[in-house]
Amino acid sequence: MQTIETISRLRAALKAHKAKGKTIAFVPTMGNLHEGHLTLIDTARIRADIVVSSIFVNPTQFGENEDFDKYPRTLQADQDKLVARGCHYLFTPSVDEMYPNGNTLSVHINSEITELHCGASRPGHFAGVATVVSKLLNIVQPDVAIFGQKDYQQLAVIRQMTADLFLPVQILGVETSRESNGLARSSRNQYLTEQQHETAPLLHDTLKKLAHALSKGADEGKAIAAAKATLSAAGFVIDYLNVVDQTTLQPSDHSAQVILAAALLGDTRLIDNLEFFRP
Ligand code: PAF
Repeated sequence: MQTIETISRLRAALKAHKAKGKTIAFVPTMGNLHEGHLTLIDTARIRADIVVSSIFVNPTQFGENEDFDKYPRTLQADQDKLVARGCHYLFTPSVDEMYPNGNTLSVHINSEITELHCGASRPGHFAGVATVVSKLLNIVQPDVAIFGQKDYQQLAVIRQMTADLFLPVQILGVETSRESNGLARSSRNQYLTEQQHETAPLLHDTLKKLAHALSKGADEGKAIAAAKATLSAAGFVIDYLNVVDQTTLQPSDHSAQVILAAALLGDTRLIDNLEFFRP
């Protein structure tokens, strides 16, 4: 695997492969890689000839009081994991390389998809994500770009952004990777204390029970209130727990629904989601 820090060198390397008709799959990350990221690399290897990943802790998607400074940076360990999974190129640009003119561009998705959920509690977050992902896609110009479904709203935002910009790339979502107890894998799980780590799987467990109840026709308001009470009693501070349409991420009567949830355990913010069908 070659690690490349500049746009010009990465483009030159990929140009040679494209000239030979090779297809490219891209897995953008912020590093501190866990099995969830590596599953995306496995999917990338199946989907294309050449696999490119990136590690860039993007400052524009963090709010002022968020964890940009303490976000774990573990480049050597990440490189070892990527090599073991057969990644071909790792792009590790500096902030100056990605934002040479400072913060001059912001890609704002002006649609209902960004309004609720994380969009409501993390103002500016999705504009930061859409900005950096559009830059990265423009640099790599892959055939397919691969993202985890754990960040359900992020995936919807990226799909909308690529459609609106007519970017010639397929966006592929991969099922959330989970620990054996059901906890969604996340770089932030390592902030949890041992006791919080034992409590954390209750989030997924509660979503499963809620989805089951709603798919059997339970009263939505009561079922959501019961789910919130379960989580609060276990020590979660709920940011949101919303049941919405899988496509618009707004409340609707359609059958294809998703539960989106974010909750704090101590200082650690966990998110998770579960799709289900309403009767
Ligand atoms: O999901 C992430 O790791 C980040 O939001 C992404 C897509 C790499 C953009 O910085």
